[in-house]
Amino acid sequence: MDNFSFQCITKLCFGKDQQKKIGARIQPFAKKVLLVYGGGSIKKSGLYDEVVASLTEAGIAHVELSGVQANPTYEKVLEGIEIAKKEQVQMILAVGGGSVIDTSKAIAIGFYEADAWSFFEKGGEPSNVLPIATVLTIPAAGSEVSPDAVITYKGRKLGFSSQKIRPVVSVINPEIFFTLPKNQIANGVTDMMSHIFERYFTQTTHTELIDSLCEATLRTIMRNALILMKDPKNYDAWSEVALGGSFAHNGLLGCGRIQDWGCHGMEHELSAHDDRVPHGAGLAVLTPNWMKYVYKENPQMFLQFATNVMEVTLDRDTEKTILRGIDKLRDFFSTIGQPATLTELGIGNAPLAEMANKCVGNGYTGNFKPLYQEDVHNIYKMSL
Ligand code: NZQ
Ligand code: ZN
Repeated sequence: MDNFSFQCITKLCFGKDQQKKIGARIQPFAKKVLLVYGGGSIKKSGLYDEVVASLTEAGIAHVELSGVQANPTYEKVLEGIEIAKKEQVQMILAVGGGSVIDTSKAIAIGFYEADAWSFFEKGGEPSNVLPIATVLTIPAAGSEVSPDAVITYKGRKLGFSSQKIRPVVSVINPEIFFTLPKNQIANGVTDMMSHIFERYFTQTTHTELIDSLCEATLRTIMRNALILMKDPKNYDAWSEVALGGSFAHNGLLGCGRIQDWGCHGMEHELSAHDDRVPHGAGLAVLTPNWMKYVYKENPQMFLQFATNVMEVTLDRDTEKTILRGIDKLRDFFSTIGQPATLTELGIGNAPLAEMANKCVGNGYTGNFKPLYQEDVHNIYKMSL
């Protein structure tokens, strides 16, 4: 196990009716907030009214930024920064999924910094940020607990990470997820599973405890995802999946190990190429092919995955067991309705070599097996 430090400051408020108390929860931080949301699902479901009522009850004024799209853009961030500055808000309240929360995080940076995009391009540490609270509407990206934000601008989809942009308060009420369409359930489940894969597959040794936590979280998410596909209003199944999604990405499952993140790097190029590609669907296409491409770097890790996560019976032929595990993962993705190829995703004609170039820049992506331009191009071609 490697040295590490782990801190997650987010106060998670989990369970029924928690959104009705959001005003009281954020009262210590602000008298005026910027309420950020997406394309309208929260108005249809009644969540918007509940949140506004809670703010009013707590004596918190609000202004709004609406219309954040999936795969959120920096143009929307700039709109939000302008409102936040003009109205002198003291906090951002994101009511939505990863796209809304990430937009809020970038606005929180831009409130103090002249050029928020430069942090996505070059990294660094913002001098200050507005505090962020969230009411989660889709368990998927884990942004409600993560120090990360991912924004698209001028054909690039880039991530930025800083402990300063972790939300201070996040509400998770599984009932809010009852309105999610099945494709969004599948995208969310795939993304949270990928967040665990990116941490689980490592060359670091003596990582038994975190390995086991990863395996248990993956099994729990998959088992309950299958229940949700048949019964999308199952509170107990949503509770397990939602908690799995937050724990997948709050940092705990990455403690003491070198993480990979190659599939995320490769997927961001798919969504950057065509912003109609959902992050989760892109990951579903790439992940099993990435596994087939890299497993020989550490077959033991993939044997462990096949038996402990995908519950494949151990065969005398190690390779057969490993490949059966990867096939079972592909079958699981198909069962929840995910595409298996770039063609099914609608980007079969994408300029793959160019995208592989953008993905690795002058170096490589991933750590389990460092992937150079040719490797990424090969995985894209396997995914056609
Ligand atoms: O806009 P509305 O009308 O709200 O519709 C949304 C949106 O179309 C809909 N939706 C959300 N909650 C709903 C609902 N529909 C009905 N009922 C509800 N309760 O779902 C659609 C997708 O929303 P989005 O926020 O885009 O989903 P997700 O949470 O999957 O976020 C994806 C984004 O997060 C980034 C991804 O790259 C992508 O841009 N990521 C962010 C990360 C982070 N900050 O830590 C890590 C991830 O790896 C990921 O990269
Ligand atoms: Zn992700």
